[in-house]
Amino acid sequence: MSASMKSDVAYEKMADVESSLLKPHKYSRCILVITSLIAVVLLLFSLQTFLIPSIITSGLNKNPPIMQTCTDTCRLVLLESIPVGMEFNSSVGHPSIYQAWRSLLSEAQSSLDIASFYWTLTNEDTKTQEPTANQGEEILQELVQISGKISVRIAVNTPTDKQPHHDIQQLINAGANVRDVNLRDLTSGVLHTKFWVVDKKHVYIGSANMDWRSLTQVKELGAVIYDCKCLAEDLEKIFEAYWFLGDSKIIPSPWPSQYTTAYNKDTPMQLAINGTDSGVYLSSSPPSLCAEGRTSDLQAILSVISDAQQFVCIAVMNYLPTMEFTSFKRYWADIDTELRRVAFERKIHVRLLISCWDSTSPLMFPFLRSLASVQDSKSNLDIQVKIFIVPSSASQKKIPFARVNHNKYMVTDRIAYIGTSNWSGDYFVNTAGSALVVNQTTTSSSESTVREQLQAVFERDWDSSYSTPLNQDSNLEQICAM
Ligand SMILES: *[C@@H]1O[C@H](CO)[C@@H](O)[C@H](O)[C@H]1NC(C)=O
Ligand SMILES: *[C@@H]1O[C@H](CO)[C@@H](O)[C@H](O)[C@H]1NC(C)=O
Ligand SMILES: *[C@@H]1O[C@H](CO)[C@@H](O)[C@H](O)[C@H]1NC(C)=O
Ligand SMILES: *[C@@H]1O[C@H](CO)[C@@H](O)[C@H](O)[C@H]1NC(C)=O
Repeated sequence: MSASMKSDVAYEKMADVESSLLKPHKYSRCILVITSLIAVVLLLFSLQTFLIPSIITSGLNKNPPIMQTCTDTCRLVLLESIPVGMEFNSSVGHPSIYQAWRSLLSEAQSSLDIASFYWTLTNEDTKTQEPTANQGEEILQELVQISGKISVRIAVNTPTDKQPHHDIQQLINAGANVRDVNLRDLTSGVLHTKFWVVDKKHVYIGSANMDWRSLTQVKELGAVIYDCKCLAEDLEKIFEAYWFLGDSKIIPSPWPSQYTTAYNKDTPMQLAINGTDSGVYLSSSPPSLCAEGRTSDLQAILSVISDAQQFVCIAVMNYLPTMEFTSFKRYWADIDTELRRVAFERKIHVRLLISCWDSTSPLMFPFLRSLASVQDSKSNLDIQVKIFIVPSSASQKKIPFARVNHNKYMVTDRIAYIGTSNWSGDYFVNTAGSALVVNQTTTSSSESTVREQLQAVFERDWDSSYSTPLNQDSNLEQICAM
């Protein structure tokens, strides 16, 4: 109390100091300045001596997490869902998310934990009769089968009355443990994360929802990492936080020590991915769900952008420098500002690949045009935006909420970032998401790296005929109606 009053006083004096600098010098002013500076120094000193040590000892964990050397032979495979009917003139391709889920299900021996937004794995859920729902339906059947055999835990955003409950009910009946996480009440957001942890050693993370359309009708990107206990244990801590919240009316603050992590943007986990030395960490949002040591998703994104030395490539479905779902209008330009800053101050080439479909907010385009106007070869300013369209046949058009590029990743000349969030304010302020950050900066490996593979995916999409440059006179109706 008294400390904050004192600092208010000091703050006013500081304001005084500033105005005095603009005026002719006066002795009395000078003395005031010196006294107030001394007061500030004394205040900081007393804070440091008396307050900070007690904060540290009271907040400190009994068992601070210890950084361990990871000796696992982690293998990372990039994954994609390419909607049926799309074809690229490129050899760049990766196993499907469906294949990876199948292989994880066949490997699982003791446990499977899934963080999910919603579940619509069958035609019944979407009231469709699409043959391409078969992959989702198969996954659900396999999940039902193993739910009776091994520990299956599912954290899901609390379903609304309108949302189908069949899949979840079937899994519960088969023996799965399900917790609804009511982030609406806890943070005014949703649980939007999508990841799996299998046997505490394999991990899947990416943009795909537990939705049959995410396997065959929506373009998705993710990664599976096999035999990587260190990373799986860290992701498990994020899962355990959701699991706890499924049973809680409050968010712990601070989170108890078992949720803390030693791995973050400043001290990433050092491990070999396919034999290549990498610095890796997992970020999480919103900040209230980050235990001690966890880098927030926004901080991860900003640090990856500011770390780039040549280019930043971003592929996200939605991009808005605003909040989307608040009842009042709020501007939110943290990422936007950082992109413009690196383009201007450090001549970084920035490219954004954004999606357009029926549900796209038209508000996205004036802001994207504004970014794309930061373009001038003389002053070496280079921000470019392209709109990616997944084309649909007449029958595909009838599938609700499908046929869109749902990717959420970023690749720079140094880092691969694979996330689960749309890029607008809500996803970093109140919605739960998480991301995998792989830093292979120090690598001089001859093997292809995750970063290189992710960049190749970006270049393939950017150069394809599915992408159209956005400029000041683009006709959006024409672009988006493709
Ligand atoms: C990537 O790793 C390098 C070398 O350890 C480090 O200097 C850099 O800050 C890291 N970048 C990010 C964005 O974490
Ligand atoms: C991303 O944004 C779109 C459009 O607002 C929304 O439909 C979707 O649920 C969001 N989250 C996902 C699943 O990526
Ligand atoms: C890692 O190895 C697997 C095969 O074991 C391969 O499919 C994958 O592409 C490799 N990943 C990288 C990043 O090289
Ligand atoms: C593939 O190449 C053909 C011929 O150049 C072109 O018409 C088509 O649009 C290309 N497809 C993609 C997806 O880029």
